[in-house]
Amino acid sequence: MKAGLYPYFLPLAGQEGATVRRSGRELIMCGSNNYLGLTADPRVHAAARAALDRYGSSSTGSRFLNGNTDLHEELEAELADFLGKPAALVLSTGYQANLGALAGLLTPRDYAVVDRDAHASLVDGCRLSGAKVRRFPHNDAEGLRRTLEQLPDAAARLVIVDGVYSMEGDICDLPAITAVCAQYGARLLVDDAHGLGVLAGGRGTAAHFDLTDQVDLITVTFSKALASLGGAVVGSEEAIHYLKHKARSLMFSASMTPTSTAAALTALRILRAEPHLTTDVRAKADHVRRGLIAAGVGTGDSTTPIIPVPVPDAAGTLAIWERLVRAGVYVNPVLPPAATPRLRTSYMATHTRAQLDRVVEVLGSEPELRRAGDRVASSVSVA
Ligand SMILES: Cc1ncc(COP(=O)(O)O)c(C=O)c1O
Repeated sequence: MKAGLYPYFLPLAGQEGATVRRSGRELIMCGSNNYLGLTADPRVHAAARAALDRYGSSSTGSRFLNGNTDLHEELEAELADFLGKPAALVLSTGYQANLGALAGLLTPRDYAVVDRDAHASLVDGCRLSGAKVRRFPHNDAEGLRRTLEQLPDAAARLVIVDGVYSMEGDICDLPAITAVCAQYGARLLVDDAHGLGVLAGGRGTAAHFDLTDQVDLITVTFSKALASLGGAVVGSEEAIHYLKHKARSLMFSASMTPTSTAAALTALRILRAEPHLTTDVRAKADHVRRGLIAAGVGTGDSTTPIIPVPVPDAAGTLAIWERLVRAGVYVNPVLPPAATPRLRTSYMATHTRAQLDRVVEVLGSEPELRRAGDRVASSVSVA
């Protein structure tokens, strides 16, 4: 990079959750999706170790053939029950869950109507399906209505949104979006990668608005609040049965490892037994948000543990990022084409107040952040 700063692929020498080690120094981690801090939980570690001993290090195949285990099916049953849907299908990543669901369900005759800031995996799934793709303005139900109005009456249409937007930290306006979907006969898929474990006692965005029945499919990932690796599609028995035989990212890829599956299952059980973790993480993020605002640093439209901090311009982003790392705070610098420039910061239930106060102090002492204003420009995801 021009200034000699390259903030990506940084090798970390250890991760304890709220802190990480790099080049012999400890940094406060404010760039992880480990919302509940469960990657460091001894119960999750013990379950992963036990699964390793019992099932070995790999499933060595697709769930369709030799790679299915009772652990995968337990995870599906407990996840579907938790999210209030009849069935779930577990895939090896959240990316594959979105790819499999969209490419499996949509055909070139159908319309995919996608929020402008939807995650890249949703965009890729639509592309792979060959469906006709229409984008609507971010989180704008009127924009969605205008888009749906223009489609041929008989055409099947699937509206695709994130529950919590990964770069903005804002929550989908599901009440308005579901109303428009109902009026225009559109099905709805919500990617709740960042809502699971965070909203509504962890049940996510649809439950947050008490609208689970209005959402046809929910996709989730285990790589964030559930401290593992993997993903799932959750919905009706029919849709899930269909996807078991149509989702190529499921059928032609090895299943989640036994250790990942056991870790996700145990994290889910902890979440269910200890819903205070979800209020803890939101309270910690609210504490930071209040501190940043008081220091004159912007926080965008976020109301969740993801807080995007506006930067004056792309050029200055990396210099600010480097100063933050030198001061002991790890954040993620985001540059186009992933999104418009910002520092993406995110918080965990296990951050201490002292750590969070230090983060506010370090970010608040950056004059350029105080000058950048409150708004992050509406982001453009990799599209
Ligand atoms: C909104 C959203 N959907 C899907 C994914 C993909 O999840 P995974 O990391 O499990 O592939 C991510 C991860 O970045 C995400 O933020």
